[in-house]
Amino acid sequence: MRLGIVVLCLLLFFTHPLCTTGLWWAVGNTLTFDQNRICRKAKRLSGKQQDLCKKEPEIIEAALLGSKEHGLGECRHQMKLRKWNCTTKSLGRVLLQDTRETAFANAITSAGVTFQITSACSAGSLLQCGCDNSSNSIIQQTKNATWLWGGCGDNVHFGYIKSIEFIDTQEKRRSDIKSLITQHNNEAGRLAVKLHMRKECKCHGLSGTCTLKTCWKRMPNFRDVGNRLKELFNGAIKVTGANNGKTLLPINPTIKAPTVTDLVYSVESPNFCEPDRKVGSIGTAGRVCNSTSEGVEGCQIMCCNRGFTDEIMNRTYHCRCRFKWCCVVECDICTKNVTISRCNGYS
Ligand SMILES: *[C@@H]1O[C@H](CO)[C@@H](O)[C@H](O)[C@H]1NC(C)=O
Ligand SMILES: *[C@@H]1O[C@H](CO)[C@@H](O)[C@H](O)[C@H]1NC(C)=O
Ligand SMILES: *[C@@H]1O[C@H](CO)[C@@H](O)[C@H](O)[C@H]1NC(C)=O
Ligand SMILES: *[C@@H]1O[C@H](CO)[C@@H](O)[C@H](O)[C@H]1NC(C)=O
Ligand SMILES: *[C@@H]1O[C@H](CO)[C@@H](O)[C@H](O)[C@H]1NC(C)=O
Ligand SMILES: *[C@@H]1O[C@H](CO)[C@@H](O)[C@H](O)[C@H]1NC(C)=O
Repeated sequence: MRLGIVVLCLLLFFTHPLCTTGLWWAVGNTLTFDQNRICRKAKRLSGKQQDLCKKEPEIIEAALLGSKEHGLGECRHQMKLRKWNCTTKSLGRVLLQDTRETAFANAITSAGVTFQITSACSAGSLLQCGCDNSSNSIIQQTKNATWLWGGCGDNVHFGYIKSIEFIDTQEKRRSDIKSLITQHNNEAGRLAVKLHMRKECKCHGLSGTCTLKTCWKRMPNFRDVGNRLKELFNGAIKVTGANNGKTLLPINPTIKAPTVTDLVYSVESPNFCEPDRKVGSIGTAGRVCNSTSEGVEGCQIMCCNRGFTDEIMNRTYHCRCRFKWCCVVECDICTKNVTISRCNGYS
């Protein structure tokens, strides 16, 4: 059986648990996925992952797509104004640490995998799952409204379970603190999807009357998942292992213990100012910064006090647009000077 698959590990997640299982190394940089060959070669796969590999290669495909399109894509979006901006160059190393960034990268990856597998179920592209219709034809009443559960509900439970099987199996065999932290953050990522399902409805009846409403459960937009995890990143809790080797305790005893939805880390982040391969820092020389902001994207922080250089760019844009009957919009092309600030290099 061959499947078209975008193989990313060598380029992207090459030290991510997804890849260190050996599965992706075996795939090499080919763009096809020969299930038998891969599953046989991937000796380091745990029993469960072997099963998954043999029985459900299309789930692995969805998982990979989810980690790239949603996980990595959203990581870049959320971090684009920070010194560490989730570049693929640094991701491998960052995932080997135990910092806030590691926590975020792990959480958003497992959220992406949960999300993509669930989406594939709803789209009908997996044999193993479909919509969650378990509440269909139940009539629900609240003080304000009455509706009928129906349509195609997102089966997030399936995506959640598969994400655990796929990502956490390897971790579960170990019990060191890094592994505990990784599993905690993976779970927080999945919960950022699973605990925020929303209700989507369609009205029936004469137009505008909505005499009957059909509703189903829909996952949150992945952007909302990213925003939520970014907030958790900002409030991430520094932890250490308890004596029982199973629980994580906050380092600072005045801080509340982390809940299942919090992100946790055990090592302070490097400052990401200068290149340092060991910790996955590629430095900020040449990064665009905002000279009038005092935030993380401001030149002072972004450039680590090395200063910045302004470039004047002549930018073109559409202007003086007008509507012509019927039906085109005509615009002029205008130019303006814009100033872009970039961080200086290292001296
Ligand atoms: C019910 O309706 C009131 C006012 O129309 C609104 O303030 C309230 O949030 C609604 N409750 C629910 C559960 O939708
Ligand atoms: C659930 O309901 C939708 C819409 O009614 C339907 O298209 C789909 O096939 C159903 N799925 C399952 C698994 O029953
Ligand atoms: C991320 O940072 C690197 C250098 O640190 C830069 O080359 C890259 O363009 C940045 N990516 C984005 C999306 O800003
Ligand atoms: C730069 O930061 C200022 C202040 O926070 C903000 O008003 C402005 O829109 C930012 N400029 C860009 C290009 O983002
Ligand atoms: C931008 O460049 C164009 C030619 O490439 C020139 O006509 C225009 O005057 C320039 N605009 C500014 C604001 O410098
Ligand atoms: C844009 O910048 C050029 C020099 O880079 C300058 O000659 C020109 O006057 C500027 N135009 C405006 C509108 O500021």
